[in-house]
Amino acid sequence: MVAMAALDVRHRGMRPARSARRAGSFGPRLPAPRRGGRDSSMAPRRAEGDRSQPPAGPPPTQGEAEDDDYVPPAVSIDSAGAGKSFISPRWLTELGRLWGGASDVPVVEAVPDDVKDLLGGALFQALYRWMLTSGPIYLLPTGPISSFLIVSEPAAAKHILRSSDNARRNVYGKGLVAEVSKFLFGDGFAVADGQLWTARRKAVAPSFHKRYLETMVDRVFVPSAVRLNDKLKREADNEVDIESCFSQLTLDIIGKAVFNYDFDSLTADSPVIQAVYTALKETEQRATDLLPYWKLPFASLFDERQRKAEDAVRVIRKTTEELIDRCKAIVEEEDAAGSGSGSAEDYVDEQDPSILRFLIQARDEVSSTQLRDDLLSMLVAGHETTASVLTWTIYLLLQNPECLRVAREEVDSILGQRKVPQYSDLADMPYTLRCISESMRLYPHPPVLIRRALEDDRLPGGQFVPKGQDVIVSVYNIHHSPDVWEDPEAFRPERFALDRQAPNEQNTDFRYIPFSGGPRKCIGDQFALLEAHVALVVLLREMEVDLVPNQKIEMTTGATIHTKDGLFVTARRRGGEGAVLPTSKKSEVVQNAAPE
Ligand code: HEM
Repeated sequence: MVAMAALDVRHRGMRPARSARRAGSFGPRLPAPRRGGRDSSMAPRRAEGDRSQPPAGPPPTQGEAEDDDYVPPAVSIDSAGAGKSFISPRWLTELGRLWGGASDVPVVEAVPDDVKDLLGGALFQALYRWMLTSGPIYLLPTGPISSFLIVSEPAAAKHILRSSDNARRNVYGKGLVAEVSKFLFGDGFAVADGQLWTARRKAVAPSFHKRYLETMVDRVFVPSAVRLNDKLKREADNEVDIESCFSQLTLDIIGKAVFNYDFDSLTADSPVIQAVYTALKETEQRATDLLPYWKLPFASLFDERQRKAEDAVRVIRKTTEELIDRCKAIVEEEDAAGSGSGSAEDYVDEQDPSILRFLIQARDEVSSTQLRDDLLSMLVAGHETTASVLTWTIYLLLQNPECLRVAREEVDSILGQRKVPQYSDLADMPYTLRCISESMRLYPHPPVLIRRALEDDRLPGGQFVPKGQDVIVSVYNIHHSPDVWEDPEAFRPERFALDRQAPNEQNTDFRYIPFSGGPRKCIGDQFALLEAHVALVVLLREMEVDLVPNQKIEMTTGATIHTKDGLFVTARRRGGEGAVLPTSKKSEVVQNAAPE
């Protein structure tokens, strides 16, 4: 998410209309220093208090086919009124309103007092409250001439996401997202656009082929998940921050999967691990900075945080470059010795099944710097997201004992005496996967998607979007909207039928978009679902996990929704040491739905 303060985009034509009632304020949520290093997972917990509560809702409607050429209807909402900026003084916003003319969307009214709350990193919650009072499409002024158009409606989200980097209809770009992460991503394809993005996405996408995913399950996901169980067993009956543990697990996995590099962060600490966490934290902090001072040249000369971030990026890039050089040297040696393997579409090297190896073996014309930035894009995009999914899934299951019981029963039935699954088992555990899907509905990562209009546009509801307008597609709002989901706050994995495909943007017609949609949709979605599925199955199979009572679980955000102070649990081996695991009842379980 990008801070309102980091914005400096003019809004033409989008100006205050009807004054929407203020949606209320909420407590400050400052990003807590956390995650990384092995110690943080064992840090003492704090706080007393409540927890959120999930439970129920119906399946989404089936989706429509992709259609990139549709013309939205030209309806217009005419609502007049005033908006208030929470960044600029009211009189400035009023001035902007007079200046800009009539607008066709409601404008939310926020006051400067809200700034401190919003800067705490829970903007998506404010966006939700305003949706309830202003409707699914409204304008959030961020200064006299700057604003965000907030979109919380599936049809409009579909329109915008499909028109991002679409060769036939390229109306929206990534806008501000690139600004906060450029220092780390460089020209990586996660933030690139235009021809560079097209070429690199096309080059990287084939590396996620089926054989690669199968190999990852057996050789990376399962062993890493077992290492997490081992760690938990060593800490049996101590209070453990499971959120940090998941963060370490997913860092280990993504390191192996992308570079064939073992961070080993579950059991060790190293300068590279620290550098990764420092850089990730900097991305997060930039996203919520009041003043984007890091844009100033030589910021690192006068700011310690910037100096640390620069040092961290240097360490990460150097390590990545070494891994690339090493991999290239191996491939060249093999070629020279005539023992090199081919570059088939489903190529997986036995010694090194990583994406890096696949890309080098493909022998594309690509510079080492571009390759490095692309790989770092995947490292960053694929790490914290999956960790957060696992954190909220276990939290929701612990809050919903009946769902936990059903999930565990499914796992036990399929695995029988075995402790870990194989790739082929996962299709037989659709309920556990639905728990993950439902968790991503309630806690999408990131909760908002940011775009900027590259030309004048009109949404399907008829609202005008001027060129240069910054837009937020609030995934969180769509996933929590009572207009979109029945009983939206309830955790009900069964709302997604077990005998159908797992939910995605297409089969829900953009009601469910945790991986976004359109051309910039997550490239690692299947990888992530398999990874989370394996990690959950391995955990449920062997470990009994309990939430430490009286914790106050608060949400905050950077790139993902995460807890403010960690998620503390106690974990021990199920049934005690040497317990006999139940026998297989595979035939009794519904066998359907592949792990899409
Ligand atoms: C559950 C975990 C994950 C979630 C929820 C998630 C979510 C997302 C979302 C929402 C986007 C699109 C952002 C936008 O439209 O602006 C995205 C893009 C991306 N994701 Fe993921 N992601 C996850 C895991 C992964 C993994 C494991 C990888 C890599 C192995 C990955 C790599 C990427 C990349 C490279 C992009 C940029 C794609 C592009 O711009 O072409 N993600 N992800």
